[in-house]
Amino acid sequence: MNQGTANNSSFSFTQSGPFVMVIFGATGDLAVNKLFPALFSMYKSKLLPEKFYVVGFSRRDWDDEQFRKFLNEKHIMDKSNKKEFLDPYLLNELPVDNDELIWKEFIENIYYQKGIFDEPFGYETLIKKLVGFDEEMGACITRIFYLATPPDNYLSILKHLDSTKLAEGCGQGSDKWTRIAIEKPFGRDLDTAKMLDQKLGQIFSEKQVFRIDHYLGKETIQNLLAFRFANSIFEPLWNSEYIDHVQITFAEKEGIKSRGKFFEGTGIMRDVAQNHILQMLAAIAMEQPRSFTREEVRDARANAIKSIRCIDSKAVKQSVVRGQYKSYLQEKDVVSDSKTETFVAMKLMLDNKRFAQVPFYIRAGKKMPGEMMEISVVFKQTCHILFKEYGCPEIGNVLTFRIQPDEGIKMRVITKTPGMKLSLETVDMKFNYKEHVAHKIMDAYEKILLDILSGDQMLFNRSDELESSWQLITNILKGWEDPSVPLFVYDDSSWGPKEAQELIEKDGRKWI
Ligand code: BG6
Repeated sequence: MNQGTANNSSFSFTQSGPFVMVIFGATGDLAVNKLFPALFSMYKSKLLPEKFYVVGFSRRDWDDEQFRKFLNEKHIMDKSNKKEFLDPYLLNELPVDNDELIWKEFIENIYYQKGIFDEPFGYETLIKKLVGFDEEMGACITRIFYLATPPDNYLSILKHLDSTKLAEGCGQGSDKWTRIAIEKPFGRDLDTAKMLDQKLGQIFSEKQVFRIDHYLGKETIQNLLAFRFANSIFEPLWNSEYIDHVQITFAEKEGIKSRGKFFEGTGIMRDVAQNHILQMLAAIAMEQPRSFTREEVRDARANAIKSIRCIDSKAVKQSVVRGQYKSYLQEKDVVSDSKTETFVAMKLMLDNKRFAQVPFYIRAGKKMPGEMMEISVVFKQTCHILFKEYGCPEIGNVLTFRIQPDEGIKMRVITKTPGMKLSLETVDMKFNYKEHVAHKIMDAYEKILLDILSGDQMLFNRSDELESSWQLITNILKGWEDPSVPLFVYDDSSWGPKEAQELIEKDGRKWI
């Protein structure tokens, strides 16, 4: 297949040269459900260079063909769950046969390396494989090491990348040829995050490191910056004079599925609050970057997270509620007296002028009644000044960013109910991606992979940003070590424990 540059002029990216990507944890959920489908989609859309190699590194005793067979089966399953094959950039619906042919071509670029993460053998054989690719290409090709394993393996993998000199790449000693991509959660708390960062820093230079939070790659999160800073009408209102409070909801319908091993001892706080939720908050709270460049945007994001007031471990009960869904203890790989939280609600305050006294209410949970990731900016109610007797709605203007599903933006305004009498009602003004965008929205992992390939770090975490987020979360986790802090059980398919309602209601507000 002829791979070239994307021919859609509205989409710009830097086409990467040939590369090899080694995926550690290649048979795990993340690799199988996100990374390989994203790579395939990029291949179909001609976003990958003509020549590339992907090596799955895992403990199973397989060769290339067995690994390809495994991916084939997953692909067939995935395909039977999807009715349509949309080429996201060319706007064509691909006929199924064509899709099959492209898959067959794509899979030829996939290789396998058996290895145990904390034993040198696999890494040593990997070197030979990578050298073979360089020889085939007649040049040093970019090496990307993608850590998609459970976080406990990160230090072992880094140690071996270092000791076998794999980290140095084919240029031996030149950091030009290697990149490392590392998934969240980045550490378990502040100390382990710092330790991990220190280890990374000993082996790689900062420009080689891609700390992933795939929420930063979501189209709807990226759009928040454009929405806030490209439209002049919102910025004057974006402060404590006009905003009453902000709500962030991260509700997932499913439980932990087959991820018991990972989730136990991780919990929702480390799994999504420390990263995805705080990034959603940062997108609302950050100041306008001085320019739309990597470090300026990362500075603005990091400053927003730094401005969140730390909650004292002893005061955790007042501002944080944790819960566990009723059937959690029956899930596979979950211990019978597990105290792992599957729900969290928090009230966070920011110590900066813009958001002084503006609470950010956050809730995240598994086994909720529906899928709903959204941010609502609730404006102060002024309706009563003139229209007190005419039925002012309890909540007035709300600007909602729907991150997913049904991606879009909604502005609730108060209007006069049509008719002879004066009475008021609320109406939603909506922008919906489905109606507006003819093609499917780019998957976050495609964007993340594209940026790793082109070496663009804007949408990746910097270590100071992670340190501040861990500082906040570690204090809460410490507070939870006190056995008197309750873990509330909530019904499956409910909005969490009633204490989460009380958290916001005691301030005279309600979840939207
Ligand atoms: C992952 C978490 O980072 O994000 C999962 O580990 C969560 O628990 C997932 O389900 C949500 O991501 P997305 O892209 O499906 O919204």
